Amino acid sequence: MPLVTSTEMFKKAYEGGYAIGAFNVNNMEIIQGITEAAKEEQAPLILQVSAGARKYANHTYLMKLIEAALEETNLPIVVHLDHGEDFEICKSCIDGGFTSVMIDGSKHSFEENIRLTKQVVDYAHDKGVVVEGELGRLAGVEDDVNVSAEDASYTRPEQVQEFVERTGVDSLAIAIGTSHGAYKFAGEPKLRFDILEEIGRLVPGFPIVLHGASSVIPEFVEQINKYGGQMPGAQGVPEDMLRRAASLSVCKINIDSDLRLAMTASIRKHFAENPGDFDPRQYLRPARAAIKELVRHKLVNVLGCNNKI
Ligand code: G3H
Ligand code: 13P
Ligand code: ZN
Repeated sequence: MPLVTSTEMFKKAYEGGYAIGAFNVNNMEIIQGITEAAKEEQAPLILQVSAGARKYANHTYLMKLIEAALEETNLPIVVHLDHGEDFEICKSCIDGGFTSVMIDGSKHSFEENIRLTKQVVDYAHDKGVVVEGELGRLAGVEDDVNVSAEDASYTRPEQVQEFVERTGVDSLAIAIGTSHGAYKFAGEPKLRFDILEEIGRLVPGFPIVLHGASSVIPEFVEQINKYGGQMPGAQGVPEDMLRRAASLSVCKINIDSDLRLAMTASIRKHFAENPGDFDPRQYLRPARAAIKELVRHKLVNVLGCNNKI
């Protein structure tokens, strides 16, 4: 099956009250772990690539690895640019075979965000590619840009309809209190479900995207700390909150940090138990298996998108 866009996936997810997992990919083991789990669970998938991932692994290598995954799994897979910051990177990904791009104009003024997003939408739609925009600003680290909690701002529901109509975007990332990385809440986790519900009322049927949605699974953090890491205070979004978001208008849930934690916890354990090992296959095999089991858990127990092909 060729790569697909997210249009059909989001429509079914919205109607079915579940969400599609959008997992960040950076290398072969991550792609294999994610896609093997999705194949076994018969889940549609979004594989997303950040500017940092393109710099690390190279656009062509990532595309070829994803092509291999398509051939191996025969799943509907979307290849999506995560947090495109300008028109040029979106264009480069569209020209290079991605089926979906995000233009993240959230750091700009409302008017500039609309102008930039529409420019990308016009180019993308002409080529059959879909576009995710962003309104409101998440805290946390993305591609070396650190947005402090003070600079973060919730999405204003009253702006959403105008943004969607004037840009023509296919989906919209919103800010309701999640943030990127492994340190999302200093105290008790709290998300603004009132904002999400209001947006659902104002643009019914329109797919919403939740970034910064890793749960920072405590077992991985404990394992990292046990084997020499230092991640005190790491905390993510509780799974019941993600399930609630998926039952509302959230159709795409972004997960990167949990993949990193699963892999790192596995590799730290491996070296603590096998200090003399120097064969990458010996430590990457269990790391890939850890990713696969994590993704299976997300698909089945959190996103609810298993058996939705
Ligand atoms: O939103 C950010 C994602 O976790 C990607 O992270 O830019 O370090 O690849 P990255
Ligand atoms: P996490 O850091 O919570 O995994 O969020 C990832 C993300 O939003 C990618 O765009
Ligand atoms: Zn993000």
